[in-house]
Amino acid sequence: MQNQLDQLAQEALSSLKETQNSAALTAWNQRYLGKKGALTQMLRSVGELPKEERPAFGRAANEVKIKLEAAYEAQEQVLHRAEMERELTAGGIDVTLPGRPVEPGHLHLTTQTLRQIYAIFAEMGFQIYESPEVETDETNFGLLNIPPHHPARDMWDTFWIDDEVLLRTHTSPGQIRVMREQHPNPIRVILPGKCYRYEQITARSEHHFYQVEGLAVGHHITMTDLIGTLTQFARRYYGPERQIRIRGSYFPFTEPSIEVDIDCILCEGQGCRVCKYSGWLEIAGAGMVHPVVLQNGGYDPDVWSGYAFGPGVERPAMLKHHIDDIRLFYGNDLRFLRQF
Ligand code: DAH
Repeated sequence: MQNQLDQLAQEALSSLKETQNSAALTAWNQRYLGKKGALTQMLRSVGELPKEERPAFGRAANEVKIKLEAAYEAQEQVLHRAEMERELTAGGIDVTLPGRPVEPGHLHLTTQTLRQIYAIFAEMGFQIYESPEVETDETNFGLLNIPPHHPARDMWDTFWIDDEVLLRTHTSPGQIRVMREQHPNPIRVILPGKCYRYEQITARSEHHFYQVEGLAVGHHITMTDLIGTLTQFARRYYGPERQIRIRGSYFPFTEPSIEVDIDCILCEGQGCRVCKYSGWLEIAGAGMVHPVVLQNGGYDPDVWSGYAFGPGVERPAMLKHHIDDIRLFYGNDLRFLRQF
């Protein structure tokens, strides 16, 4: 048996050298190492030996098996390399061709704009607070002083998930979440994020868009703090020469409420198509946090006061980069996205 084994090993190794392609190699593997291969058969016949010879023979046969397997792998490498060389010299691959460049990506214009806004408010000591996009009737409306059936609900066409749950129509519900989490401490945060409205998509409105809510709650906070903060923001984002205009407005969660305009950055206030010949562009709604909202957040309105504001994100970017259609932001047309 031992002789037979040695002979088999020798024969296998020398015939391996003669395999010149992968088909021959596979056939060799089957002939010696396969299920019905010669070595496998021999290993199976161990049982026919006298008991005392079995362990020595088993060990020897296994050694041969390992040796053949290693030789098989080495030959596989040799053949593979030879094949590559053949392909190269046959001219199948032109190694002098330049590679295909991998195009580097970059941040979406919305992300860039958000980061600019974060940086400006960070300089003024605002922290960033993220709140959920899926909200409830209570946080999106009720606790913001907009009870059911209040006509102000008409300001926000809503994607309802069921009778209670909705996609937030604005970032304002975050105000309630921050206050409930932070009270009784002073607050100075921005709340960026995506909002959803059940609206017709047009060049001026999308059914989803970003806002960056702002909220400050403290002692002796007044409207002048609000106006100063938004003036600073407008000049940092739109340019140091910007003028601010404040108009009275209405929001259920602020009292008093204002609308903030800047002089038109395109015509410098002279009047043009973009500002509808008024010379002014609206940039945010804002106001002093309504006492009911302060209370809903856990702050005593006799002791605390605060302001809030809610600019969009795409609109400022549109003004700054002269983009006339909001649908371009999320249309995923690379010709547009690459420009920023
Ligand atoms: N949430 C308002 C909207 O989406 C915008 C807004 C107005 C936010 C006034 C405020 C605010 O914080 O004080 O229409």
